[in-house]
Amino acid sequence: MSKQLDLVTLTNPHSPAAEAYRTLRTNLTFTALDKPIETLIVTSAAPDEGKSTVLANLAVTMAQSERRTILVDADLRRPGLHDIFGVANERGLTTMIVEEATLDHPPLLETGVENLWLLPSGTQPPNPADILGSRRMEQVIAALIAHAEIVLFDAPPVVSVTDAAVLGTKVDGVLLVVRAGHTRREHAQRAQETLERVHVRILGAVLNDAPRGVMLGGY
Ligand SMILES: Nc1ncnc2c1ncn2[C@@H]1O[C@H](COP(=O)(O)OP(=O)(O)OP(=O)(O)O)[C@@H](O)[C@H]1O
Ligand SMILES: [Mg+2]
Repeated sequence: MSKQLDLVTLTNPHSPAAEAYRTLRTNLTFTALDKPIETLIVTSAAPDEGKSTVLANLAVTMAQSERRTILVDADLRRPGLHDIFGVANERGLTTMIVEEATLDHPPLLETGVENLWLLPSGTQPPNPADILGSRRMEQVIAALIAHAEIVLFDAPPVVSVTDAAVLGTKVDGVLLVVRAGHTRREHAQRAQETLERVHVRILGAVLNDAPRGVMLGGY
């Protein structure tokens, strides 16, 4: 079932939430003026904090500013981006890992949003962390960057599995999603420490599901 309703940036582009995503896009641009960020992953401490929702909306917002954007589902354990965009998850990232010919022709899917393509997870493998840490994964990232200005990766939560930390070392930076009323402070701290230990560049945190008052104010 399509969950496009999760894409507030498409369904309600004038809402405070969509405006917040545009602010996030601007902040990311200013974070790295000298060397623009080409690849980033979104993760969080624990499950269900809104990683996939935040990432999909950020990707739409990037594409709306006329940047060729590729959204990659590197959450090989609980892939969900294909549902958000209402497309099938048949060929995707794991296809590119095993079929060398796809490096030149990535199996990207149209999303219905101009400038935005989706690479779903593909078939779920038994060893996600090994795949994300492989040399082949680096070739896949390079191949995707050749097709776009920015490549955004979804990833599993940090506290339970190593995938996000492993992939984080291969990209320009990581955004940590924190969900109001949900994320436990000590889990967020542990996630930050886990990423810092392997020298992943943490670009910042996104507060998801913030109480209304936090977003009001016009300016
Ligand atoms: N700001 C929000 N307002 C309302 N619902 C939200 C918000 N953010 C996320 N959700 C809902 O919470 C659920 C979990 O969100 P999502 O799948 O994006 O989280 P996730 O961190 O990617 O989860 P997982 O750990 O399973 O990958 C979804 O049903 C989503 O629609
Ligand atoms: Mg998710």
